Amino acid sequence: MMTQLTNHPAWKALNDHHHEMRDLSLREELAHEGRFSDLSRVACGILFDFSKHLANKETINLLVDLAHAAKVDEMRAKMFAGVKINNTEDRAVLHTACRAPETAEVVVDDENIIPFVHQVLSQMEDFTHAVRSGEHKGYTDEAITDVVNIGIGGSDLGPRFVVEALQEDGSGPKVHFVSNVDGQDIASVLKKLKPETTLFVIASKTFATEETMLNAQMAKDWLLKSATTDAIPKHFVALSTNAKGVKDFGISLSNMFPFRDWVGGRYSLWSAIGLSISLAVGFDNFRKLLDGAHDMDQHFQNAEPKDNVPLLMGMLGVWYRNFYNYSAHLLLPYDVRMDKMAKFIQQMDMESNGKAVDREGHHMSYATGPLIFGEPGTDSQHSFMQWVHQSADVVPVDFMICKEPHHALAANHASLCANFLAQSRALALGQTLEEAKGDPSRVFTGNRPSTSIVLPKLSPYHLGALIAAYEHKVFVQGVVWGVNSFDQPGVELGKKLAKPIKEILEGRTPNAGMDSSTSHLINVLMPR
Ligand code: F6P
Repeated sequence: MMTQLTNHPAWKALNDHHHEMRDLSLREELAHEGRFSDLSRVACGILFDFSKHLANKETINLLVDLAHAAKVDEMRAKMFAGVKINNTEDRAVLHTACRAPETAEVVVDDENIIPFVHQVLSQMEDFTHAVRSGEHKGYTDEAITDVVNIGIGGSDLGPRFVVEALQEDGSGPKVHFVSNVDGQDIASVLKKLKPETTLFVIASKTFATEETMLNAQMAKDWLLKSATTDAIPKHFVALSTNAKGVKDFGISLSNMFPFRDWVGGRYSLWSAIGLSISLAVGFDNFRKLLDGAHDMDQHFQNAEPKDNVPLLMGMLGVWYRNFYNYSAHLLLPYDVRMDKMAKFIQQMDMESNGKAVDREGHHMSYATGPLIFGEPGTDSQHSFMQWVHQSADVVPVDFMICKEPHHALAANHASLCANFLAQSRALALGQTLEEAKGDPSRVFTGNRPSTSIVLPKLSPYHLGALIAAYEHKVFVQGVVWGVNSFDQPGVELGKKLAKPIKEILEGRTPNAGMDSSTSHLINVLMPR
């Protein structure tokens, strides 16, 4: 799409504008009182301050023109309506339907899917209540104290991030996460738990992912060391689209929470995959998370382009990636509860837009999704922020903070806020040689762009809205770049190549047909 789009007048206008913007000084721009109100927006009660960007009103108008030229609005309408925009897998993209109200109607293959969505939500609500109230008991008639979510990628990162972020709302069983096939991961969780009070939630869209199936089997073996197979229904539930796989594993379908192929793995925390969130924080809070996301969906569909937060986030990313050639994007939540955010958004963004072939199969001549990284401030200030402030590379940043903390330590929060503000200010304004008293090593170039995002508090509602804003940001960029943001062929090759190597390592086939490096490394790793 972009092959033609780079020749589009909207692209060319941005190119010209980029040349004009070469002399822009954020220090001078930010001296104007009106800049903040001109360039900040509010959506779902969350403030997004775009005034520290290498952009002005003209930039916003031109980016909006490019989004229009790329038909972002048309693709958005198709996504929400259930058109099969995941063209390589011939699937609709409807994580948004998981948070739609009962009155909505979204048709896929002649079926209105909203009743199915709400049926699964009721199933999740009932089960959450049963577990949290102690009505659901383990095989010794004790209540469940610990839940282990076994899943990987999208079946792990979203629930893991949200459960940790909403820890102050977590009054239910303790929820643990196991994802890695490294046996250390499950072993270190299991050694803390008692089988009679542990519930395993096996989260896998396909119910065929090697890591998850192996860890699920380990969990089953662990339970069966102290219980009979009659205990399985009390201690195992499955979240999946694959009923046969669930049954073959030994989990009855009455213990399965289904979802459908129109929910992509990295967009699945809103579906049955969110069960561990609901168990940790209660169904009402899970519902509020969905409500926040739904309100952001409404904003994304209805707000004017120049006020549309996900659209602006996405288009500013295009501005930096394609016109400034900045290849990374940094997430800095000033909130330790959001520790897993960067990992989660990393998958959402990089698995979606880390592609160099467009929807029609053509190689692209331009850059697409950036490297996403991050970790909470203020820790990051004492690790990689030196590079962000003074290296030759520039990386746009999203700073995030909550106005109201959940604790009563006012001095800590004041210090957190001060650091949050100081970092974006230092990046934008820099420090001149004169201010550095003639010491060139203390000169900061400035003009390093960032968005400041302020949530009223880390409530389920606001968290849901924030995550949905990122989902739509990724969507907007995927449309502009012309990629299918909803498949992941890059992940498949590694899975395919691991199978024959495992057979060799387990002594089931000879070490033959490998390249010389791999073959020698197999010999080194082969158990004797
Ligand atoms: O990482 C690749 C991937 O296919 C993701 O898209 C998905 O979230 C993850 O594997 C896990 O897949 P599943 O939920 O089917 O086990």
